[in-house]
Amino acid sequence: MQSIPLLAEKLGVHVSFPEHVFSTPMRLEEFQTLLKDCGKILESFFEEYKISWRDVYVTSDIGLERMALAQEMQLDEHDTVLDVGCGRGYFTIAAAELSRFVIGVDLMNGLGRHGWWRNFNTSIRELNLVDKVLGVKSDGGRLPFRSGSFSAATTVHAIRNFKDYSSIENAIKEMKRVVLKGGSVILVESLPIARTKAQEAHLQMFRCKVKHTYGELDYLSKDKIEGIFQNVGFKKLEVKELDYNLSAAPPLFCIDPYLPSLPRSKREEAKRAYDRAASMVSKWGEVSPPALLVRATR
Ligand SMILES: C[S@@+](CC[C@H](N)C(=O)[O-])C[C@H]1O[C@@H](n2cnc3c(N)ncnc32)[C@H](O)[C@@H]1O
Repeated sequence: MQSIPLLAEKLGVHVSFPEHVFSTPMRLEEFQTLLKDCGKILESFFEEYKISWRDVYVTSDIGLERMALAQEMQLDEHDTVLDVGCGRGYFTIAAAELSRFVIGVDLMNGLGRHGWWRNFNTSIRELNLVDKVLGVKSDGGRLPFRSGSFSAATTVHAIRNFKDYSSIENAIKEMKRVVLKGGSVILVESLPIARTKAQEAHLQMFRCKVKHTYGELDYLSKDKIEGIFQNVGFKKLEVKELDYNLSAAPPLFCIDPYLPSLPRSKREEAKRAYDRAASMVSKWGEVSPPALLVRATR
């Protein structure tokens, strides 16, 4: 979705596509139609203009941000990386471009993530990274690897989807165990702060998602994230705030499938919150808030 307007501009072709996907408060049917339209437009780009999935990745904000993060982490061809909470592989791909080998680990046991391993494997195949990437279904808090197996363990835009604070801490503990002495444990997550109207719009939509759907934690503050690393026994942390002004993790969702599971009294409130957030996005656009990068050395 993010790459289509940019690719169209590059190719000099006109496609009819909403400037912001929330430009009208989105309902499930509209979203499904939009997805189908995206599929058709991309198919025509692939066939008529020889566009590849790599072109799609590098012209999307999601891909651009993950590549910037992998550079920022200074991953290189000597690195063997464990990517915890890999999801559909957005960061795994960027890490694999720079390093020797990446194992992506994720629970992906439902919660709206049906078919994500298929997405992961398809992306890895389409991007010719099969020799460098392996996906493993596992809990980040109980990693099936020997101690000291990796030079770096990363978790990128993932802790918001962990069950609770202690499951995040368990994962960081395990990541510490599986990296070599001198290796790095690196966490990246959005912060609950907005410096622009577009970031405010993101937070409004994200908070609506946290409150009225399930499986999403609020973004943690800088102090809380640092506290997790300290609890795990890391003393010295390298901490950096990154603000790329990209839509790196759009809080894209439709409210209607969630409404029936809400008590009647909450449904109107949920719809109002969603429409308010959608109108902010259509007015100002949507940009991810600044993200915190924490690097701890074992
Ligand atoms: C936002 S998604 C993926 C983000 C991805 N790293 C990226 O670059 O876009 C977060 C993922 O964390 C995973 N997750 C949640 N709890 C987990 C756990 N205990 N162990 C491993 N993965 C977990 C979820 O299944 C989900 O796929």
